[in-house]
Amino acid sequence: MVNIVVLVSGGGTNLQALIDAQKNGLIENGAITCVISSKPDAYALERAKNNGIKTRVISRKDYADTASYSIAVRDALIEENAGLVVYAGFMTILDESVTNAFPNKMMNVHPALIPSFCGKGFYGLKVHEEVLKRGVKLTGATVHFVNEVCDGGPIILQKAVEVKNGDTPEILQKRVMEQAEWIILPTAVSLFCKGKIVIEDNIAKILE
Ligand code: GAR
Repeated sequence: MVNIVVLVSGGGTNLQALIDAQKNGLIENGAITCVISSKPDAYALERAKNNGIKTRVISRKDYADTASYSIAVRDALIEENAGLVVYAGFMTILDESVTNAFPNKMMNVHPALIPSFCGKGFYGLKVHEEVLKRGVKLTGATVHFVNEVCDGGPIILQKAVEVKNGDTPEILQKRVMEQAEWIILPTAVSLFCKGKIVIEDNIAKILE
């Protein structure tokens, strides 16, 4: 059984998608054992508590820099015996002390089709604002492994979503969540727990 530790910072709708998938028996061989938030007031914490999942707060504000914060998160992940770490709307950058401790065992959901609209500064609603500014007609979401490059690790799953006339960043964000993120994140977690993802030459392959 893989211990899944979910990192959050906000509303936690992706965490909810994982909890629902677990309840529906879609995540065989894995269980969400802990939710760690970088913000004490994240609503995601309530979602975890409502479902009997252990929560921890490691507030970014309590640490002077990325290095000391990363070590605190890494130590908590080791304490929780994490077999898979999922960034689900986790808005804080962690350095190599974490990625080196969990190589190809951390995944992130990003609200665009990487390598478009990703990297430093592209998070949350900002991604959708930039998509609308550029006028692309297709956007979507990506689940990828986390490595030392921001949004640069091997891509696991992607799903495209149409951009429509009259979209606002908020409307587009909701469509990308509903039609892509909440589907591909639980699917990627399930595949990982079943041992169906292999990495060759920095490319993630899904086994049949
Ligand atoms: C989601 O759209 C997620 O993809 C995005 O923030 C939102 C969090 O929503 N993450 C990033 O932008 C990370 N670069 P949630 O808290 O409701 O899951």
